[in-house]
Parts: sequence; structure tokens; C-alpha cells
Amino acid sequence: MDRKLVILGAQWGDEGKGKIVDLLSENHDVTVRYQGGSNAGHTVIVNGEKFILHLLPTGILHSHVVGVIAQGMVVDLEVLQEELESLKKKGIDYEGRLLISDRAHLVMPYHKVLDRLFEKKGGIGTTLRGIGPAYMFKFGRKGIRLADLEDEKRLYTLIEENVSFVRDICEKVFCESYSFNVDEVFERTLRVYENCKDMVADVSRYLLDTEKSLLFEGAQGTMLDVDMGTYPYVTSSNSSALGLSNGTGLPPKFFSDAYMVGVAKAYTTRVGGGPFPTELKGEEGERLRDLGGEYGSTTGRPRRCGWLDLVALKYAVEVNHLDGIILTKLDVLDSFEEVKVCVAYEYEGQRIEHFPASLKVLENCKPVYKSLKGWLKDTRGAKDVKELPPNALDYVRFIEEYTGVPVIMLSTGPKREEFIWLRELPKIKVSSL
Ligand code: GDP
Ligand code: IMO
Ligand code: MG
Repeated sequence: MDRKLVILGAQWGDEGKGKIVDLLSENHDVTVRYQGGSNAGHTVIVNGEKFILHLLPTGILHSHVVGVIAQGMVVDLEVLQEELESLKKKGIDYEGRLLISDRAHLVMPYHKVLDRLFEKKGGIGTTLRGIGPAYMFKFGRKGIRLADLEDEKRLYTLIEENVSFVRDICEKVFCESYSFNVDEVFERTLRVYENCKDMVADVSRYLLDTEKSLLFEGAQGTMLDVDMGTYPYVTSSNSSALGLSNGTGLPPKFFSDAYMVGVAKAYTTRVGGGPFPTELKGEEGERLRDLGGEYGSTTGRPRRCGWLDLVALKYAVEVNHLDGIILTKLDVLDSFEEVKVCVAYEYEGQRIEHFPASLKVLENCKPVYKSLKGWLKDTRGAKDVKELPPNALDYVRFIEEYTGVPVIMLSTGPKREEFIWLRELPKIKVSSL
């Protein structure tokens, strides 16, 4: 099998992965989410109807696609149920098309309480979906996996231990009262499990054995990766290509022939706290936010906006070994007379061209910009490269030259059909698009 495609966020999330995964799922049999949880918000607009997927693999919107929730995800069964119900209401039949790993961990109601409490003390602006605490429990060996739900006695004991541990944290560390009751949590968990238990499977085995074509859908982005991102202002999973193997249970070699695509916005956004060297705090930033509709798909928070950071993007190319970039939201820059890109950082008189680990450097460095001429023409919805003004193409070429990888596709609007292929994806048939 040679049809493995990986779609990753190349910035701080919200690059437009949902739209791209939806588009490319048309030519794949299986879409796999493998890290993160309902902190993700992947937007797709099909025939004027908007879908925002949080836990479900975006490919599920296509009736031929099998969606897979792999072991690296943390699953909130209540959110899953809501999301499945909302698909049903919109006429999407997912029966028999969703698999959930028996090794995936659960986000429990008390994880969301802890997320809120942790945010009160030195918070980083999480989505409050319980993601950090669920991964803390997993790596602290206190987690509950879907496989544990089959053994009710064991499940009860695990919940009992967790609730007592969480109560201590709430009351003794945060001096807050805590209202969870073991029986209630136990029953609530079994109730939601009942609705999805037929979907629980050995997903790694399925992925190893299948001859089907696979699309791996990253959530968040490389700069939010717990190891490679702007730690501690990151999410709690490996949201770069580093998460593929542990997130699926597949050996690293399985991905050696995968085609790796990074999705990047034509500018930069970030939601939540943390360093953001090219952030525009004044009017220009607001203008980008208004033009790009930059409000979180999961929390509705205004996204921080700034010029394209090529130092960070090149780092993402290297960390993920990207074969190509898909550039989204180029249309948002249509009305700017001048468009800037950051080509280096300056810190204490020194020029830095490689993305640093140090928070101190990232927080205090100044971006070194290269200014490019704007195109002052409407590119929204363009479907042919001939419709693009030369300055817009120069902008794209500059990105290719700086990062050393081709921009294989441009997204020119939020709708499924608004895109232009600039290069063909090797091995992956795209002719029907
Ligand atoms: P994701 O988390 O990476 O899937 O991205 P989000 O869905 O959170 O945010 C991307 C936003 O940009 C959504 O509102 C999309 O509908 C929208 N979008 C995606 N591609 C384009 C594009 O090329 N142009 C414009 N104007 N909007 C886009
Ligand atoms: P998609 O998949 C953008 C950010 C949060 C916060 C940090 C940690 O839609 O691109 P968490 O709730 O994960 O513990 O929060 O990560 N964050 C995202 N930012 N897009 C996302 O997902 C994000 N998921 C988490 O804002 O700064
Ligand atoms: Mg999003």
C-alpha cells in the first residue's frame, strides 16, 4: 500500500486543516485522528452548511470514509455523543464507519474541573476541555482506557481512586469544594459508553492489516507540540509528526513512505497565551482578525494575529520533514498594500534563524521582516492559478524559497471547492477533485 497521507498543522493550530482534510478525504478510504481531543475545532463548509468537528475525524463527512479515533487521543464520550447526534441531525449516516481504539484514554468530568482549576493558577489559556489533566492521568498511570469499560468492577475502582485523588487536589491544594460522586460518575460513564461500545476496536491492528488508503489528520499544530512547541504554552500531546507512531500504535517505519503535508495560513494566528514573535497588537492585527474571521472554532476566543513567521514555518518543515505545504487564507491578505514576512529574529543584537527553545528569547526577540508588495486584487474563491495576480504568486514563491519545500495547494476560501492545486501530489490520485 502506498497511499498514506499525513496532514499536519504547521503553525499554532487553526491553519485550516479541517477544510483540507475534508477535501482530500474524497480520495482516501480511512481518516485517522491520533492525538489531542475535543480541544480541536476543524471547520468544513459543504454546500453552504458549516460543520465544526472536535473529536471526530473530519473525513467522516464523506459517506465512503471510515473514521478512526486512534489510541493517542483522549476521548470525552459525552462530547462524542453530542457530535454524533449533531451529524445524525444533519443527515450524515456514520453507522459502521467509526472505530475507536480500545487503548484510547477517557477525558472524565473531573479532568475538566482540574483544567479549570489549573488555569486559575498560572494558566496558559487552555480550551478547558480537560485535555492536559487527561494526559496527566495517562502518563501518571491513573488513566481510564476504553478497554477498561468492559470490566465494570475495575472501572468502579478506578473511578473511586480518581475521584478521591481529585477531591484531595481540589480541597487541599485549591481550597475549593468538590461535588463529584463516584456512583454518579460511574453511571454517567457507562451510559455514554453504551452508545459507542460497538465502535471500540483494536485500531492499531486494523490499520496494520488494512489495504485501504489512509489519511492521518493532525490536530493543533507543530508549534503547540508538547516537545517541539513553545513549551509550556503548548497542548499536552505530540501534535507534530512526532505523534504519529505513539498516537496510532504503528511502528515509525510504517510512515516512512507517507506523504507529509503541512497546512499553514498565509499569516500567523495563535489562541491562548505564549510567545508569538510576529504578533500585531494594534490596528493591523485587528484588521487581520476581522478579515480572516479569526475567532476560535472551539472556544470562540479572538485569535491573536500577526504576519507570517517563516522562521517558525521552516522549523515546522524540518520537525515534520514536510514534503509540501498547503497555504490557506491567502485571500485574507488581498487588501494589504504591503505584506510582511519574518525571515529571522533579532535578540540582544544577534540574528537568529533557527527557532529557539528558550522562552526568554522567544518572548523578547524582535522579528526581522522582509516586505513584499501586496496584490490588491480579489483572490477569494479563485480556482485557477491564472486568476492569481503576479504579486500573490511572488509571495508564494518567496515562501517556497525560504522553506525549501513546494507550496502544493492554495486554499482561496473556506468552502470545499475553493482551492487551486499548484503541484500534483505524487502517488495520490487527485484527478476527481
Ligand atoms: P483547523 O483547526 O486547522 O481545522 O482550522 P479552523 O477550522 O479552526 O480555522 C480555520 C478557519 O478558516 C475556518 O473558519 C475555515 O472555514 C476558514 N478557512 C479555511 N481555509 C480558508 C481560506 O482559504 N480562506 C478563508 N478566508 N477562510 C478559510
Ligand atoms: P485545532 O486542531 C488552536 C491551544 C489552546 C492553548 C493550548 C493548550 O483546531 O488547530 P489545551 O486545551 O490543548 O490544553 O490548550 O493549546 N489549542 C489550540 N489552538 N487550535 C487548536 O486545535 C488548539 N487546541 C489547543 O488555545 O493555548
Ligand atoms: Mg481549529
